[in-house]
Amino acid sequence: MTRPDTTTTTGADPYVPTDAADLADLRAAAPGCRGCDLHQDATQVVFGRGDADARVVMVGEQPGDVEDRQGLPFVGPAGHLLRRAVDDAGIAADQIYLTNAVKHFRFQLKGSRRIHQTPDRVHIVACRPWLVAEFAMLRPEVVVVLGATAAKALLGPSFRVTRSRGVPMPWPDSAQRARDFPVAPARLVATIHPSAVLRADDRETAYRGLVADLTVAGKLLAG
Ligand code: URA
Ligand code: SF4
Repeated sequence: MTRPDTTTTTGADPYVPTDAADLADLRAAAPGCRGCDLHQDATQVVFGRGDADARVVMVGEQPGDVEDRQGLPFVGPAGHLLRRAVDDAGIAADQIYLTNAVKHFRFQLKGSRRIHQTPDRVHIVACRPWLVAEFAMLRPEVVVVLGATAAKALLGPSFRVTRSRGVPMPWPDSAQRARDFPVAPARLVATIHPSAVLRADDRETAYRGLVADLTVAGKLLAG
């Protein structure tokens, strides 16, 4: 089940249609992606989901077990928690587009169980062209970074969510990122991943922290 990451990792670039007119065109092309090895063992690609006019894009890590089976992002336990938190933060569900930094489920088989494995840098980098293409279509006003993997994809390897969470930040304007993600003048808010709430010893406090950070993101929309 564990195959070397490097042999087949060309990155998603050759699979992202350059003439895509909308998100539907991107979504239609995504099942053909062979940009890294993760497509081999996953059930299907899990593309982003939400209204094309959504003003907020929330970026998670990768699909989980339930998402992999259903083909939709954030439909498992972490997704349910996130939806509740979004609601408690006062953000309308139809303002949100949900997606992931990596679009195939990475796991290890233990008996018949599929154990989540955090994507490596190689997967994050390989899959980034899809995220860039989604952003180019959506041009979000507010970007919510859910956890470390999304932060790596959007903000580079040195960003620390725990240090910078819940604080509105300008879109990072280094030349490379501005070119990669043509979304300026979006603002972003980083927070923990909803799975971290599910794993926390003190779930209630962790949940309140997530809601507080999302409330900050929601206020950016209002203001
Ligand atoms: N966790 C994620 O990061 N994304 C999903 O779609 C589901 C769980
Ligand atoms: Fe392509 Fe991303 Fe899937 Fe890798 S994880 S095959 S880059 S869609």
